[in-house]
Amino acid sequence: MSTDSKPLQSSAVINEAVQTLRDGGLVAFPTETVYGLGADAKNPEAIQKIFTAKGRPLHHPLIVHLAAPDKFDAPQVDWVPIIAPWARDISEDAIKLMNAFWPGPLTLVFKKDKTVLSEITGGQDTVAIRAPAHPIAQEVLRKFKGGIVAPSANRFGKVSPTSAADVRSEFEGTLDLMILDGGDCEVGIESTIIDMSSGDKPRLLRPGIITPKEILAKTGVSVLKTGEVSSDEHAESIPRVSGSLRAHYAPTTPLRLYAPGRVLDALSEYPDTKSRVAVAVWDSESSLGEDGHPSVHFEEMEIPSDSAAFASYLYRSLRDLDQQEWDLILFPEPPAGEEWDGVRDRLQRACFGSGPSSSSQDSN
Ligand code: TXA
Ligand code: MG
Repeated sequence: MSTDSKPLQSSAVINEAVQTLRDGGLVAFPTETVYGLGADAKNPEAIQKIFTAKGRPLHHPLIVHLAAPDKFDAPQVDWVPIIAPWARDISEDAIKLMNAFWPGPLTLVFKKDKTVLSEITGGQDTVAIRAPAHPIAQEVLRKFKGGIVAPSANRFGKVSPTSAADVRSEFEGTLDLMILDGGDCEVGIESTIIDMSSGDKPRLLRPGIITPKEILAKTGVSVLKTGEVSSDEHAESIPRVSGSLRAHYAPTTPLRLYAPGRVLDALSEYPDTKSRVAVAVWDSESSLGEDGHPSVHFEEMEIPSDSAAFASYLYRSLRDLDQQEWDLILFPEPPAGEEWDGVRDRLQRACFGSGPSSSSQDSN
């Protein structure tokens, strides 16, 4: 079977996608973060197809994507009736976050409505919801008139796709999949996830482009960061996030980080295969000048030293480098600062899981 990529989105193509979803099929579509693999959130058999296609463990919950109202430039959309069929105990803080950041790259976890399928939630009593900003995602959602569950459209543990071609290469030969082509994703890493379900302070579950600092500045809501434990909470009550596996987002070429100016140290920790090494270098820095090193062929490539530009480039570059048959890929450690947390998180997990026998090991 082959994958079927439809370049630009006439309404006939969108209608076909909507019909495919109604018929219980899967459709890959662009969001502003990464491409999603969508299915009807009310159809258990369709949801099952996602887990099979991705090779994803059944207990890993999915995000429900919802349509924004037609005119979401209105100063204050009322999101409560939109999420009410899915979520309960919607707090004032949650309303502030939705007003400030939806539609956009922010996922909120709520206590679930009893009608939400357990196939979506991995049996938990919470549900993750987001309204994506991408116009194609929104058009599909509006016409579908229902929730669409959509994990990133990659095989479990692998690098998330940021273009239609990436999705095609993930499932080529294994799945007959309709792919809506919306070009390259602007944000480039998955949405920020915040748990609003505890009745206590909101908690960051997955860092992304929207940071706790930005949330505080725009809404006055303070968010506990991963690892911070509030007074009346125990660690085991924190919900699972599959991105929290230590190995995730992983290329098959070994990937390591190097401390500023310490490329050779990173190499010496990796003595076996170092004849062809790709070294990413901040565009704000001069060349590493490592070409005198015996037996190693370095090739430098510039990477953006702005955190948002780096995020939008990260998965693209990992995929491209993975195709180029390097023995080792070296990236500089991202600098300190909350705006780098999202990419630091993805890079560290990508390193841990990288290599020819890469698999997602649940090590936490
Ligand atoms: O940007 C995104 O969020 C992309 C695009 C396609 O929307 N989607 C995405 O989905 O990253 P996925 O399935 O690859 O990651 C969703 C994450 C998983 O780590 C999952 O464990 C977490 O959301 N999640 C889903 N429901 C949850 C819940 N009820 N409680 C805690 N975490 C949840
Ligand atoms: Mg994913």
